[in-house]
Amino acid sequence: MTKARARQITKAVIPAAGLGTRFLPATKATPKEMLPVVDKPAIQYVVEEAASAGLTDVLMITGRNKRPLEDHFDRAYELEELLVRKGDEAKLARVRESSDLATMHYVRQGDPKGLGHAVLCAEPHVADQPFAVLLGDDLIDPRDPLLAKMIDVQRELGGSVVALIEVAPEQAHLYGCAAVKPAEWHGTLGGDDEIVRITDLVEKPAEGEAPSNYAVIGRYVLDPTVFDVLRETPPGKNDEIQLTDALRVLAQRTPGRGGPVHGVLFKGRRYDTGDRGDYLRAIVRLACERDDLGPDFRTWLKELVGSGELDTLTGAE
Ligand code: G1P
Repeated sequence: MTKARARQITKAVIPAAGLGTRFLPATKATPKEMLPVVDKPAIQYVVEEAASAGLTDVLMITGRNKRPLEDHFDRAYELEELLVRKGDEAKLARVRESSDLATMHYVRQGDPKGLGHAVLCAEPHVADQPFAVLLGDDLIDPRDPLLAKMIDVQRELGGSVVALIEVAPEQAHLYGCAAVKPAEWHGTLGGDDEIVRITDLVEKPAEGEAPSNYAVIGRYVLDPTVFDVLRETPPGKNDEIQLTDALRVLAQRTPGRGGPVHGVLFKGRRYDTGDRGDYLRAIVRLACERDDLGPDFRTWLKELVGSGELDTLTGAE
């Protein structure tokens, strides 16, 4: 194993500069990352995932109106004092959870020039070590750990690793899509997940132009060479600097020059919170599974479905 490969991965980068316009007016004065999924802000699930994969240092790429993110992961002394005085240990623990997860850092993106540009903003912090990128719209169930596997694969094979899922052909235009071939990997990943070698990538392909049904989801473990490539990457889809375009270059490079790129084909539970419909579905699924809220909520949901009331609704804005 080379020295570069043996280095420990400790840093996570979480792009969080987006305006969240799909959730207006909720996101007029509140970052979309702070919208609750059951009773925790969506972004807390993502930081918890990074921490449980062993990452101790989190850099958030933020922008204007994102101050609540910094406050959420900081101590809240007045609130904590109050709960201490009341002796409310349970609530105190819930308040402290988010500030004990990792060492947090923040940098502003300035111009919103795309995901590739957001990742490039992390360069001064990350420097020359491999690092993880987690996108906040994807929540991965902690029972199906994905990032830790991707880190293992990167440690063994070097280069970069992305997470893939299989999607229906009509969904491919919503994602970066990968052309793949079998990987030379003889270890075991655990669970049903598989590993593949990526030969090409296309960001949000037009209908009929996807190289496969393998779609990139928001988890990446990247070789720092990606920064050099991103600096040279011209604006692509939607006139933005696309991370997918930089990874396409690395996928075609040899080891030592930033390649190869592997994909972990994830078969576990993932909740998309990227648009309003998916966000609602994620909340219902997660609420059903909770030990505390789940039993009552499931009973109510079964009654609602069984009552036929849903069949009579015609919908109103
Ligand atoms: C981004 C990436 C895309 C990827 C997706 C996963 O797109 O550009 O390649 O498939 O995240 O969620 P976005 O959904 O931010 O438009």
